[in-house]
Amino acid sequence: MQNIMLNDTPSFFYYIVLFAIYCFMGWVIEVIYRSITQRKFVNAGFLFGPFIPIYGLGAFVIIVMQHVFQSWHIVPLFIILGLAITCLEYMIGFLSEKIFKLTLWDYSENRFNLHGHVCLHFSIIWTLLALIFVTFVHPEVFRRVVLLNEGFAKTAAIAFMIYFWIDYAFSVMSLAAFRRGVAYLYEEYFNLSSTEIENNLKSFQRLREAFPDLNKYIYQNINKKIRTRLNSFLKSIQDKIILEMAGRTPFEKEYYETVQDILQHEEFLKLKDYFHHNSSIYAHVHDVAYFSYRICKYFKMDYRSAARGALLHDFFLYDWRNHDVPDLPRKKFHGLAHPTIAVANAKKHFSINDIEEDVIKKHMWPLTIVPPKYKESYIVSFADKYLSSKEFINEYKKRINQRQEKRAHKRKEKKHD
Ligand SMILES: [Fe+2]
Ligand SMILES: [Fe+2]
Repeated sequence: MQNIMLNDTPSFFYYIVLFAIYCFMGWVIEVIYRSITQRKFVNAGFLFGPFIPIYGLGAFVIIVMQHVFQSWHIVPLFIILGLAITCLEYMIGFLSEKIFKLTLWDYSENRFNLHGHVCLHFSIIWTLLALIFVTFVHPEVFRRVVLLNEGFAKTAAIAFMIYFWIDYAFSVMSLAAFRRGVAYLYEEYFNLSSTEIENNLKSFQRLREAFPDLNKYIYQNINKKIRTRLNSFLKSIQDKIILEMAGRTPFEKEYYETVQDILQHEEFLKLKDYFHHNSSIYAHVHDVAYFSYRICKYFKMDYRSAARGALLHDFFLYDWRNHDVPDLPRKKFHGLAHPTIAVANAKKHFSINDIEEDVIKKHMWPLTIVPPKYKESYIVSFADKYLSSKEFINEYKKRINQRQEKRAHKRKEKKHD
């Protein structure tokens, strides 16, 4: 490998131009990778502009290392380059967490990782890319950059430095604004309307998209807050609801008339074929609908919309355990995505009002951050959780009993032998 950099010694400004080019190349790589994995355009990186400094920094470390160890054989060179890149990646990941409390990337789900900052798999990929870079890309870019007129290189370098520090300052300020926004959201969550919460979340959309880890951070904290508040509220009304439920009869005339067209619809009847908790989706939504109908009637709410919305709340025609839906790439997305799928199916086959749409869309709240708009949606969301946990517990007990019976049977057979 020939080292071009130290054979020629252009002025400092040429190196700044090179640094800018490599930061830009890094941004292009990140944007392509993130946009493909997140299926939409993502402006990656901490800065607003199209530059990611860690790539520029990495490029210079690689260039210097290659110069120092240029006489080495390819294998030890590969190892030393790999170690240097891994150290740099660890350092940047560690410092950004310490200084900015920001997880720029997270490898903690990959094997052989160290504190989530580095992992073997990516270190090998980076080292291979570094070798390609230092052998093919850098000599070519360097050859072209040194051909630039000195005055032009100087102006471009100064302009880039000024721009870089301004962008950096604004990015740090935007991060501080984000932290204030999140703190405000936590503090005022229960006093804000759904639209205000949505607007608040939208105001730091870019950071949330560039660093998906921030979403986890926001969700976890808000969910904790909602759960505590919700538990105390639920305890107070639970007794009333249980009393009301004691006299339920599943085919009450008024209820049946309200939901008859849905219950008999050809597409809706398909829900009988999909297992859910301990029976079918059909049986589950029917229970949730009737339960919600009784509660809403008792509290003098819009019980018709509650019953219809609740009946359609899990209107998705796939087995969520096997996950046979091409639009849901990962199993864990089902929990967040199925309300939207159910709304689409409900609109396709029935005409639904605003309350019914809200009931379906928000029934997974607080897993989904934006709270329901209507009282009926809170009731259905509660009814769904209450009955689902009952169904889960019953299914669990059934399985334990079956296992115990099997064991007892085997023991008996052994005795006979
Ligand atoms: Fe659901
Ligand atoms: Fe459900």
